[in-house]
Amino acid sequence: MKSQVLRKKFFDFFVRHGHEKVASSSLIPAQDPTLLFANAGMNQFKDVFLGKEKRSYKRAVTIQKCVRAGGKHNDLDNVGFTQRHLTFFEMMGNFSFGDYFKKEAIRYAWDFLTQEVNFDQKDLYVTVHHSDDEAFDIWHNEIGVPKDKIFRLGADNFWQMGDTGPCGPCTEIFVDRTSKYGCGKVDCSPACGCDRFIEVWNNVFMQFDRQSDGTDVPLKQTGVDTGMGLERLTMLLQKGDSVFDTDLFKPIFDKIEGLTGLKYQSATPDIKAAFNVLGDHIRSSTFLISDGCAPANDGRGYVLRKIIRRAALFTQKLTDKNIFPQLSLVVIEHMKESYPELVMQKDRVLAVLQTEVERFAENLIRGKRMLQEQMDNAKKEKIISGAQTFMLYDTYGFPIEVTELIAGEHGFTIDKIGFEKYMEEQRQRSGKKMKGAEGGLCFTESISTKFTGYESLSESSKIIALAIEQEVVDSVAAGQECWIVAEKTPFYVECGGQVNDQGVIIFGKESAELLDLKKIDGAILLKIKAPVSLNVGDAITMQVDEFWRKHTMKNHTATHLLQAALQHFFGKQVKQAGSIVTRDYLRFDYTHHQALTAEQIKQVENLVNQKIWENIPVVIKNTTYKEAVDQGVIAFFGDKYNPDSVRAIIIGDYSKELCGGTHVSATGEIGLFKIIEEVALAAGQRRIVAYTGAKALAEFQQDFTVIKQLCQDLKIKPEQIVESVQQLQHKIKELGKDVQSLKKAQLVQQIPLWIQGIKNIHDIPYLFLTVTGYEAEGLRDIGQLLNQKKPGFYFLLQKEGDKWIFAAMIDKALSAKINLKKLQAILAEHGLRGGGSPTALQGAGIDIAVNIDDIVQSFLAHL
Ligand code: SER
Repeated sequence: MKSQVLRKKFFDFFVRHGHEKVASSSLIPAQDPTLLFANAGMNQFKDVFLGKEKRSYKRAVTIQKCVRAGGKHNDLDNVGFTQRHLTFFEMMGNFSFGDYFKKEAIRYAWDFLTQEVNFDQKDLYVTVHHSDDEAFDIWHNEIGVPKDKIFRLGADNFWQMGDTGPCGPCTEIFVDRTSKYGCGKVDCSPACGCDRFIEVWNNVFMQFDRQSDGTDVPLKQTGVDTGMGLERLTMLLQKGDSVFDTDLFKPIFDKIEGLTGLKYQSATPDIKAAFNVLGDHIRSSTFLISDGCAPANDGRGYVLRKIIRRAALFTQKLTDKNIFPQLSLVVIEHMKESYPELVMQKDRVLAVLQTEVERFAENLIRGKRMLQEQMDNAKKEKIISGAQTFMLYDTYGFPIEVTELIAGEHGFTIDKIGFEKYMEEQRQRSGKKMKGAEGGLCFTESISTKFTGYESLSESSKIIALAIEQEVVDSVAAGQECWIVAEKTPFYVECGGQVNDQGVIIFGKESAELLDLKKIDGAILLKIKAPVSLNVGDAITMQVDEFWRKHTMKNHTATHLLQAALQHFFGKQVKQAGSIVTRDYLRFDYTHHQALTAEQIKQVENLVNQKIWENIPVVIKNTTYKEAVDQGVIAFFGDKYNPDSVRAIIIGDYSKELCGGTHVSATGEIGLFKIIEEVALAAGQRRIVAYTGAKALAEFQQDFTVIKQLCQDLKIKPEQIVESVQQLQHKIKELGKDVQSLKKAQLVQQIPLWIQGIKNIHDIPYLFLTVTGYEAEGLRDIGQLLNQKKPGFYFLLQKEGDKWIFAAMIDKALSAKINLKKLQAILAEHGLRGGGSPTALQGAGIDIAVNIDDIVQSFLAHL
């Protein structure tokens, strides 16, 4: 059965049983700091399980793109060498939110496997959590699975998404692939872990919300979350030896064979592993990049970088050519039917992979050489130290996994703890301590704030909660810093790139400046230094800084106009990769593989300004996610939206975006738009910084004043400035050359005069000269000329303001007698630092309080 047929059968079966077909969410989890990548079908439903979010359906079916290459579920190290581990896979799942539970879930799973894809019942085994008698009974009494084919297990049969969040006991279904794949032990069973019994489907019964202290709080409503890896199921149905031996990988391997001349089926295990690694890693990288991820030195981007670098290492086992990026085209071609977003990102995926692999290529060769030397020197210990592993990471960009792999191939291990120590030191040095999760401040459920800042900049309300640091309190003394929560607030909390509002809070006759703002669940917390003692129930008035907010609004709406303009000129595949909207400027990061030319920047500015001058009304529409997307509204991939209630910002037919930010009521209010900067951010990502309104005008005015002044001074027209300045630069360069040769001529004339001042110390001709206007090169020339006339020791010092530079030059014949290194150390003690060769010392210092001539003479006298 072809994998594409399987996908369809799965959807059809569950839709027939009343499930809503929901699209896979992005691999980049929507605003969930507990999760690196989408790693299970249930991720997008986390809040629904927790009861924080409602959907219009109670049953859902999905095929979710998943990456398990970092965080709690991490399979990266295994990939390539086992029959079933992958970093990227598709997880088929059915879900119930407070609807059906164990009985129906088990029945659906059994029917699908035995009736839709026709597994033989005799090959199926199940496991349940050891405490779950209910699931055991359903399997035995209702489905008819013999007791000796049901295994009660512990931790393996309890599933949790991360260290916190929804979790519960689970039941897993295994397929027996016969003893051909087994470990041979007599007690081999689904609990064994060898390749005979393959876990094909996990049914989780969601019952708890795990807290950060490890306690499990029961969920208000139970649910079902199931997950079945498409690749494993395909392997079983296509009777492949491994997940790689399926139609999902065949096209990629065909391409590798074409590019390298190697044959997968007849290859040695080593070569096969390299095929597998490339096959898997090209799928994860292609999908990650097309979902907006870019290689970086931390976070998600670093995981992507590790995957690509691991692939680069394995590519070398197959060929010298850089074949990895091209494989992404095969992935896109074969997966585009299920994931159309891939096609739009094709150019970017290719550009990012190409750049990343090329950048690493040189380092891979040099780093491997270095590692080989280290292994040669540690043949006995067979260990690569933490310092060496860190050096390979820091200098050659070797992820620890890559070093471990290469070392492992030679029977070496690496000191991971030592490595971590160096990493931590580096983090401390760069001041980048890892941020902990949000503190444990917790309000009762009734504490929530209504945001009224869309309509008004001022609001009167009353305090409903108070907190000092992480503790909820009833009252706060005057002078204390605290967080207050009011029933209503006009203050906007940073979201969607738009920064926090600023403003004041008025308490009767007193007022306090707003120091910070944050949102915890539904409550908006305002940080202040209490001007009077405060109690829950007190009346307050909040006033947003109007200048701040209005300018931020102009920049926010302009950001939407800019995104639309970029898509207009460069296509829909240009996507937002991040943004910041402040009072003073807007910064928009977007995915694009090329820099904008000056002409393109002008076109973008013209279009945005044209839309500003059309004064198009900005319409805010509250609707459902589905309706919005159907009407072509753009959603930002990194954001999480409530499917039943989203806010669309509609600017005529020109721009439609989902956004929670504050906006002007018509585009004319923005006034003016000017791009200040367009730069590269990372491979495939660019950044634009722009000004609007008065700030943009000020920018033009400043430029205008400067240009006008230049035109007057140079007596030219504005359009001649560039050429004229270039000519001037050229002239200055030529004049500089003339000055240099004149100086040299002047020097030559001075030499006889200077020579008269030479004295002898220890038979060494010595002269100390203080000069001005020669710079380092001139000082050297003087030293050389003097040495040509009379071989000796010449110390030249130029004092210009408080900046001193020096050169000490000796004749070659004297270098055996005079050790300039020693002099260097003496001078350094007095603040003149420098370096050089055995015959010349050069350096600088700042306004030295000692007599350098005395110091040098004493040095010579003591030779
Ligand atoms: N969330 C569970 C898993 O990932 C079932 O889908 O295994």
